[in-house]
Amino acid sequence: MKLTGKTVVLAVTGSIAAYKIAGLASMLKKMDCNVHVLMTENATNFINPITFETLTGNKCLIDTFDRNFQFSVEHVSIAKQADVVLVAPASANVIGKIAGGIADDMLTTTVMACASRCPVLISPAMNTNMFRNPIVQDNLRKLAEFGYGIIQPDCGYLACGDTGEGKMPSEETLLWYILKEIACEKDLAGKKVLITAGPTREKIDPVRFISNHSTGKMGYALAKMCMLRGAQVTLVSGPVSIEPPLFVDVIPVTSAKDMFDAVTKRYDQVDIVIKAAAVADYRPSDPADEKVKKKDDQLSIPLERTDDILKYLGEHKKKQILCGFSMETENMLENSRVKLEKKNLDMIVANNLKVAGAGFGTDTNIVTMITKEQVEELEIMSKEDVANVIIDKILTL
Ligand code: CTP
Repeated sequence: MKLTGKTVVLAVTGSIAAYKIAGLASMLKKMDCNVHVLMTENATNFINPITFETLTGNKCLIDTFDRNFQFSVEHVSIAKQADVVLVAPASANVIGKIAGGIADDMLTTTVMACASRCPVLISPAMNTNMFRNPIVQDNLRKLAEFGYGIIQPDCGYLACGDTGEGKMPSEETLLWYILKEIACEKDLAGKKVLITAGPTREKIDPVRFISNHSTGKMGYALAKMCMLRGAQVTLVSGPVSIEPPLFVDVIPVTSAKDMFDAVTKRYDQVDIVIKAAAVADYRPSDPADEKVKKKDDQLSIPLERTDDILKYLGEHKKKQILCGFSMETENMLENSRVKLEKKNLDMIVANNLKVAGAGFGTDTNIVTMITKEQVEELEIMSKEDVANVIIDKILTL
């Protein structure tokens, strides 16, 4: 994912968590983002401005009256460029200043100048007792009321030796907050999207199950891009080992029956359903309560059909747009067109497992988007890019 043309302002105050912002600045830079770092005088006691200047390629701004810088009113200039400001770590002192309308240094003047024209996020980091202080809580409430985004601190081991609330979240978490604000246009705002992902597991006995090779990557990429494009996303996920995107409502399920229940229960409330999950078509008809012991001769397990979730959704469709996936190893187009028709879908995304760069576990995919009127073959691209193209297409339906 790229943030080309975007400007992020990182406002760093005096807290030990300041060191984490170097990692965040580096992540943003790798995404081709223009990064400006502002520091309070106190922050420079925890991390050297040269660290940030080396990572971002931009001068680190500390003093409002720095005569050597090319702009005479730097705080206004930065405010004009900023797409988002993140105050992290935000000390109790600086939170109090911003909430009280005090602007007496580079950081607080810039935040004040930015607040009316771009989102400002505040990530408090302090000792638990300071964080719980009613004055700090009142300041945070006030800032939230004025439209500042407050990032709840984590619970954990704090630099002071205490364990509790007040720990600044990880760089990765802070990055999610930034991405949510600026990564994409919000063309799915107001839409509710339900996505299924991953495999299902069908119990044979307490130690064994039938499943498939799905890793959930395609469904998770779809959930991420839908969320970043402003949708309210529910992700019904079979067992996978990848982390779900933040700001997505994750419903973990195991079997095809669990997935059927989770999906059908929510169907009436959603506008779009994308079924990227690899659902088992059969399950053991009589799963054993005890471990099945081996014998000398062959073993066969009687199987029965699971419900076809997508077919059920197609039969009960009202206003929803339904997008299915179709994984084939032969006759991809023909077979997928039959599924489009039979399941009453608006679109089906087909891929051929036998083509290198497509299918299970890869970070790329090669898909063909099929609607009643059109067949569109896409070239190899990352699953995130595939997700974006699928969303673009859905928006035209
Ligand atoms: N699907 C579903 N419920 C099932 C089986 C599949 O909802 N019990 C959905 C999948 O999530 C996918 C689409 O149907 O979006 C097509 O799945 P696929 O496995 O490619 O095809 P099947 O319909 O199962 O047919 P076949 O296995 O014969 O190819």
